[in-house]
Amino acid sequence: MKERLEELQQEALAKVEQADSVQGLKDVKVEYLGKKGPITEVLRGMGKLSKEERPVIGQLANDVRESIAQAIETKQTALEDAELEKQLEEESIDVTLPARPVKVGGPHLLTSIVEEIEDLFIGMGFEIKEGPEVETDYYNFEALNLPKGHPARDMQDSFYVTEELLMRTHTSPVQARTMGAKDGSEPVKMICPGKVYRRDTDDATHSHQFTQIEGLLVDKNVRMSDLKGVLNAFAKQMFGADREIRLRPSFFPFTEPSVEMDISCKVCGGKGCSVCKGTGWIEILGGGMVHPNVLEMAGYDPKEYSGFAFGMGPERIAMLKYGVDDIRHFYTNDVRFLEQYHKA
Ligand code: DAH
Repeated sequence: MKERLEELQQEALAKVEQADSVQGLKDVKVEYLGKKGPITEVLRGMGKLSKEERPVIGQLANDVRESIAQAIETKQTALEDAELEKQLEEESIDVTLPARPVKVGGPHLLTSIVEEIEDLFIGMGFEIKEGPEVETDYYNFEALNLPKGHPARDMQDSFYVTEELLMRTHTSPVQARTMGAKDGSEPVKMICPGKVYRRDTDDATHSHQFTQIEGLLVDKNVRMSDLKGVLNAFAKQMFGADREIRLRPSFFPFTEPSVEMDISCKVCGGKGCSVCKGTGWIEILGGGMVHPNVLEMAGYDPKEYSGFAFGMGPERIAMLKYGVDDIRHFYTNDVRFLEQYHKA
């Protein structure tokens, strides 16, 4: 038995020596140290041995197993090291290869314009407000002096969700909401940017969804000249100090008197060209003095308080400022268009 064990040891150690892969080593391990291996087999025959021989052979069998296991472990570490070495060599990175350029994004032109306008008005002390895009008929129309059946409702073709709920057609309801949230004596000075919706057929100058920025200032003794001063400061900072503004009489149900503001045409300097359709002026926004009914419905006494309001479309402002010729460019998100406006 002793000889058989020693023979098995020799055999196993030789196979460990020869093994050239981790898998090969595992096979040797199963073959010699497994439950069905020859050493176990030998141990099963121990019953036939004398009392004195048994511990000697038992010890020897353990030593043999131990030495084989040890050899396998040492060899396994060596093989694994060699495999890792080989892998590292094969996968080495050539750090001298030029890198592929990474595309860096930037703010959308519309986002930049809205932020620029916000900054201008924040600089003049206005707060930024927000309102819901799904609006009640009351705030979208009635609170703005547009009762049910008023013909001026047709100016803004609407998407109704229910009889009383619609996608807001303008940001003007935020005027009524902001005033309504106060107690009728606090001044208001806010602008509100946001998405608005109209049942329009999309073309180069119309979109069923677009952006507006509303402005509202309510206090004691607010006059038309205040509106003109604020809008003049805005226009000059936005389009250049050399641009002139003019206010033309207009009509909006929520302002009285109402105006539309034009700026002098940059292309022809006011002489008249195809961009300004020969007039020398380009329309950029609507506004006016807040209608007494609107003030009253929102809890302000029109005898004591007055205000001005205005609304503009940042898409139109960006189109004029950068010469963008189609409003759909803002929404189709072609990177070739957008990346021209990324600021460095
Ligand atoms: N809400 C108007 C529109 O969408 C724009 C507007 C005009 C807003 C005059 C105003 C305003 O606040 O005073 O056509």
